[in-house]
Amino acid sequence: MNDQAHSLRRLANRGDRKSARVIAVTSGKGGVGKTNLSVNLSLGLIQAGNSVVLLDADLGMANVDILLGLTPKFTLTDVLQSEKDVGEIIVEGPLGLKVVAGGSGVYDVANLTEWDLERFVRSVEQLDLNSDFIIIDTGAGLGRNVLSFVLAADETIVVTTPEPTAITDAYGMIKVILQRNPDSAIRVIVNMVNSPRQAQQVVEKLNAVLRQFVNREVAYGGFIPYDGHVGRAVSEQRAFITAFPSSSASRSIEHVAEKIAGKTSGQDGLGRGLKGFFSRVYNLIH
Ligand SMILES: Nc1ncnc2c1ncn2[C@@H]1O[C@H](COP(=O)(O)OP(=O)(O)OP(=O)(O)O)[C@@H](O)[C@H]1O
Ligand SMILES: [Mg+2]
Repeated sequence: MNDQAHSLRRLANRGDRKSARVIAVTSGKGGVGKTNLSVNLSLGLIQAGNSVVLLDADLGMANVDILLGLTPKFTLTDVLQSEKDVGEIIVEGPLGLKVVAGGSGVYDVANLTEWDLERFVRSVEQLDLNSDFIIIDTGAGLGRNVLSFVLAADETIVVTTPEPTAITDAYGMIKVILQRNPDSAIRVIVNMVNSPRQAQQVVEKLNAVLRQFVNREVAYGGFIPYDGHVGRAVSEQRAFITAFPSSSASRSIEHVAEKIAGKTSGQDGLGRGLKGFFSRVYNLIH
């Protein structure tokens, strides 16, 4: 390992009292509910007593800010283009949620330089120390950006609906993640279901195929019912969990959040933080 890489690694691991758990939310097919899940899960985790940063890493069509009715001045693209530090661009969402908005251009993480990475790692130190969870909303599909974010995270949530096309694409996504890292901690959340049973069947179906072709399984992460309150909240640019707290979608999200908050991750039961995350994104693409 060269000297510079070594010093970066030291920087990334320095004085790790506590690092946030970094959870990437992704999907094979688009439009299955990743952004709504990321936003409401983040708020659910806050309600369960955690401090949370939500990072919109859908670098093509970011819309966490739209869902929350926020108007950020700067976005993650400004950080990636070396103009701002991550800490400078955070906007405050509901319940004290810290939001790092995504950009709206087309950005390739392959443009990250070692200098960018060092700047990143330094600028996110405070976020790591002060957060329990970093939730990362990614785009759909197997692009290089999405895959590096997923592989660099501590845990991954793959969102699907019960539609055969969404399940097939979820399978394709999971297969590639597991081929790149067989130890990936993946849980599948099934959105827009009619019943909890339907969600379990989707995950059973996925696991049957995964066992056969990659000799692995994913964890069942829970379900969110199809609920008209979600669309209403989207139109009002509010999170459904705060706009309609007693809706069935909100109660399911609370359940999912409690389940996630109750589990630890990583080799030693700790997250590896945003610093570690950015270092791994860099290593994955170079
Ligand atoms: N549980 C649900 N019940 C009803 N409608 C839902 C539910 N979840 C999501 N939706 C609707 O589905 C649409 C897509 O949701 P969302 O934007 O979260 O998906 P996405 O996976 O982030 O999409 P993209 O791939 O474009 O980023 C939204 O208009 C939302 O209203
Ligand atoms: Mg989205």
